[in-house]
Amino acid sequence: MVSTYREEARQVAETERLLSELIADPSWMRREWMVPCDEKYARYVVHRDPQDRFDVIALVWKPGQATLLHDHDGTWGVEGVVKGTITITNFLRERELGEDLVQLRELETVEVGARGTGQLLPPADCHIVANRGTETAITVHVYGKPLRQFRIFEETSLPGVYRGEWIRVHTTSASVA
Ligand SMILES: [Fe+2]
Repeated sequence: MVSTYREEARQVAETERLLSELIADPSWMRREWMVPCDEKYARYVVHRDPQDRFDVIALVWKPGQATLLHDHDGTWGVEGVVKGTITITNFLRERELGEDLVQLRELETVEVGARGTGQLLPPADCHIVANRGTETAITVHVYGKPLRQFRIFEETSLPGVYRGEWIRVHTTSASVA
């Protein structure tokens, strides 16, 4: 278990380093991955590893758009900001309590500006991501597997206890400009 955690931590650190190189010059990004969506933050698939080892996603956030508190179906993640500023509130998954209930502990809220990166390493793999700025933000995310579903969490009346609900991941279809 410990060696698995260490191995995953090493892999995440290396992915974060590579992502930070990738976003230092985002000229590789296609224009259609930068188009915002009025209803919800836009989500574009940039690359899907043919062997399902990782997924690369671009998200576009209009001011005020945000995720709910969510996990990543047990996998790790790395995020990098291409444009704008994103606010991330990280949570630790302390205990699965059964019957859809999970104990979470809020860790910290950080603002990440252009070229900044962050990571999710289980069990610290739940967060809320929001664009609280005044300009559209663009972020690139790498996950440790193709992310097709994840849980969103709602607070219960018990302190630190949240009810999880599985939802399907949405993808915005890129319009070819
Ligand atoms: Fe996330």
